[in-house]
Amino acid sequence: MKIINVVGARPNFMKINPIIRAMNAAGLPQVLVHTGQHYDESMSDSFFRELGIPEPDINLEVGSSSHARQTAQIMMRFEETCLEVKPDMVLVVGDVNSTAACSLVAAKLGIAVSHVEAGLRSGDRSMPEEINRLVTDVLADHLFTTSRDADENLLREGIPLAKIHFTGNTMIDSLVLQLDKAKDRATHRRFGLKPYNYAVLTLHRPANVDDRQQLRNLLGTLRIIQEELPVVFPIHPRTRNNLEELDLMSEVEKMPHLVLTDPLSYLDFLDLYRLSKLVLTDSGGIQEETTFLQIPCITLRENTERPVTVTEGTNYLTGRDREKILAAFREILDRGGKQGQIPEYWDGHAAERIVEVLKAL
Ligand code: UD1
Repeated sequence: MKIINVVGARPNFMKINPIIRAMNAAGLPQVLVHTGQHYDESMSDSFFRELGIPEPDINLEVGSSSHARQTAQIMMRFEETCLEVKPDMVLVVGDVNSTAACSLVAAKLGIAVSHVEAGLRSGDRSMPEEINRLVTDVLADHLFTTSRDADENLLREGIPLAKIHFTGNTMIDSLVLQLDKAKDRATHRRFGLKPYNYAVLTLHRPANVDDRQQLRNLLGTLRIIQEELPVVFPIHPRTRNNLEELDLMSEVEKMPHLVLTDPLSYLDFLDLYRLSKLVLTDSGGIQEETTFLQIPCITLRENTERPVTVTEGTNYLTGRDREKILAAFREILDRGGKQGQIPEYWDGHAAERIVEVLKAL
């Protein structure tokens, strides 16, 4: 069985790496295709280097564009790749445009599709990722899930039970694999900070950073937070572009205890948040990573496709409401926040379980 593994954007890299390793260990032939959706050193190359992901066999080099153009470019180039490589299966991870585009190509060529991280649903179709999740899951032949609620979502949508495999979280596999290496980094010292005496912020969702009013409102909340606790803010390129275009960079620069930095590498970022007091984010993966490390997380979104991080983990889903964000912030500062437990199968062995299923096919 020849498998094409697909990656495209930053959060894909840590999800695929343990799968590549487990496939190698099991002797499964594989080809790694990078669509080039993310391409910068800080958004792509540094992850390959630090995680030890092999160089992609093929890079489609699609780059940034509108959703339709980017998806179309990936599809056109990936179709040629599939015709050349003739895989028996295409394996996609996560919920980015590359995930949906490559699934559609494979399904139309009659190639089996495996989706890792299937079944997550925010219920919010204004998120591009939700559209990507729905499209990918309806096409996939083998759906690997990270939590039991995902299985239920899929069953509710009419996906047969036989296609669904609850195997756990490969992003956590990467975390477990890299944690010791990250401990040498002392990233906080680079910013002149002390362990558990700072917060980490990430923001990149279009709903938070594309609208001036919304972004300004969040910056207002941030101004209050950084007066009590220093905040390190590695800026995603989308957010940096928007802060400049929407004329809001000066508001950010005048906050004395907000530390701005470029996007950090995987190990630097892991080391930074593992020693933080709390994390503020609109990312999906970071909700999971903080739950695993039992670091309090405030999620600046109205919904989450990862409810287990709220019901079992350390995550507070506050939305963008200033009062709610500050209430969670104070609870964490005053009482340490939720204790939380680690969800089932977030144990560093998810990729091995996935490969067991693939071998049995
Ligand atoms: C994408 C994913 C999102 C994921 C996020 C993680 C989709 C629909 N979105 O969003 O699910 O959470 O990645 O980062 O697939 N840019 C660079 N360098 C790069 C890549 C992008 O400067 O290497 C800039 C470009 O100006 C681009 C913008 O960032 O237009 C946004 O990139 P894009 O890939 O369109 O979406 P993300 O916001 O990164």
